[in-house]
Amino acid sequence: MAMELDLEGHRVLVTGAGQGVGRGIALGFAAAGAEVVVNDLRLERAARVVEEITAVGGAAVASPFDVTDYAAVAAAVKALGGVDVLVNNAGNAGAEGWSGLATFVDTEPAQWEPFLRVNLYGVLHCCRAALPAMIAKGWGRIVTIISDSGRTGEANMAAYATAKAGAAGLTRALALENGRHGITVNNISLGTMRTPVTEKTWSDPDNPMAKKLMARYTIRRPGLPEDVAALAVFLASPQASWITGQTYPLNGGISFAQ
Ligand SMILES: NC(=O)c1ccc[n+]([C@@H]2O[C@H](COP(=O)([O-])OP(=O)(O)OC[C@H]3O[C@@H](n4cnc5c(N)ncnc54)[C@H](O)[C@@H]3O)[C@@H](O)[C@H]2O)c1
Repeated sequence: MAMELDLEGHRVLVTGAGQGVGRGIALGFAAAGAEVVVNDLRLERAARVVEEITAVGGAAVASPFDVTDYAAVAAAVKALGGVDVLVNNAGNAGAEGWSGLATFVDTEPAQWEPFLRVNLYGVLHCCRAALPAMIAKGWGRIVTIISDSGRTGEANMAAYATAKAGAAGLTRALALENGRHGITVNNISLGTMRTPVTEKTWSDPDNPMAKKLMARYTIRRPGLPEDVAALAVFLASPQASWITGQTYPLNGGISFAQ
């Protein structure tokens, strides 16, 4: 059996791939030979990642749409003629979408909505749009990026944790429904990542918050986008055809899956 992960001939849609974790995943799939559809809300970000990929001979196209808008998602997937692999990465826990840490009782419904819309409805929309072509083909892969906030719980981030846990539940339901069609559906659950929005924190070796956080990690560094890319490409590969409905913590050993 060949152990090289070869995604050549596969079209992979990565949502929120204009920066951070999603960009890393897009670059990983391109390096494995896939044609990457780089989605982002912001066209200029998606276009930059497409340029990076094509500059080194990879195949990529930009597909700017908002995952919270089902009509836009469905139209984009239809225009592509379907995708073989869907990576649900778009999320809004970072500085850009974060409206402040607060205990649940100190929040109002309007504050929950942005988290549920992107991290839960966004995933529902993309899965619903992508599955019919995968079913027709008899092959497909869905990988959803969740967070340990949703897997193990996290104080002061209740709406985000709820949305991520919901997305993880969708993965299990879709795994049960679609295994017979040759489709696998899995979650990757991330711990703290080093991405452009958190770069300032991590690049300062004396930053007290970074020090405090890392003391809780068995492997004392934040996660990198390429760590996620390696696991996402593997889960999407032909070699991972018997893995479905699972949640893989990718978190430097801060907590374990049982
Ligand atoms: N950064 C972390 O420490 C961390 C930890 C655990 C889980 N995660 C998860 O990893 C994923 C990526 O996180 P990141 O830190 O790279 O985020 P990021 O904010 O750096 O990048 C997210 C990208 O998604 C895009 N995006 C946001 N809303 C969108 C929408 N509605 N439609 C399309 N694109 C949209 C943004 O424009 C941005 O380019 C998210 O699902 C996040 O919840 C991140």
